[in-house]
Amino acid sequence: MTDRYAVFGYPINHSKSPRIHQLFAEQTQQNLSYQAQAVPAEQFTTAVSEFFADGGKGLNCTVPLKELAWQYAAEKTPRAEFAKAVNTLKMQDNGLLLGDNTDGCGLVRDLTDNHSIQLNGKRLLILGAGGATRGILAPLLEQQPTSLTIANRTVAKAQGLAADFQTLAIINACGFEDLVGQQFDIILNATSASLSDQLPPLPDNLLVANGICYDLAYSNQATAFVRWGQQHHAQKSLDGLGMLIEQAAEAFYLWRGVRPQTQDVIALLNAERAATN
Ligand code: ATR
Repeated sequence: MTDRYAVFGYPINHSKSPRIHQLFAEQTQQNLSYQAQAVPAEQFTTAVSEFFADGGKGLNCTVPLKELAWQYAAEKTPRAEFAKAVNTLKMQDNGLLLGDNTDGCGLVRDLTDNHSIQLNGKRLLILGAGGATRGILAPLLEQQPTSLTIANRTVAKAQGLAADFQTLAIINACGFEDLVGQQFDIILNATSASLSDQLPPLPDNLLVANGICYDLAYSNQATAFVRWGQQHHAQKSLDGLGMLIEQAAEAFYLWRGVRPQTQDVIALLNAERAATN
């Protein structure tokens, strides 16, 4: 019997997840299928219950369904509880759906394992205070950066996140204009602006010499924030393709109990992307 998995989202047609999971399955010799299914928010509950009633084993949920998946899951991992969002659902042997969030762990793995970037002892800045930021805060704080600042257009949302996570660490919350005169070792872009080729207004000298820029979004061309990092002489200016593959590997591990090697898959998808440019 082939075990069935899928990713739900809307839109979903450009998703790389079916390809990534197929590569993982081949590599680890797991007998499974993985499809992408377009599911708008209003159809989420019906689509998920049908999928699991039909014997589906696990789901990934992406935009705009992660908060709905969090509400739907009967049990949740601590990191999913902190994120208030679920990107991975697993049908457990006891019949209860487990919700996990592997996004933050995927980001940390990409930074530390794939790019040898340590967060410990670094001054970290996150741009944006939406769901993407909430999803990565707990795993980032676990790495014990010296400081963590969230800058957002709507300052109250950054302050709200700082308050929600105050049991883990002191988080500085501010607006973009408050960044003038400050410097950071690592800047993560978690705004949705980058995808429409826009950037928050960022002062010059924000990034320390040899600093790191990382855009959680990815695209076939360099994103606006990746270009900003290049222009400001970042030692590395990366996008989120590696994070995507690492969060998928963590989901695969939750479902199958086998951890796929990600290096070859990252190299392959990067090469395919380069060939389209
Ligand atoms: P996601 O789940 O991707 O985080 P979201 O919850 O809608 O999506 O959050 C989007 C984030 O991008 C927010 O921080 C938003 O800023 P506001 O909270 O002020 O709305 C930020 N954002 C979107 N477009 C932006 C732009 N043009 N400039 C700066 N920030 C932007």
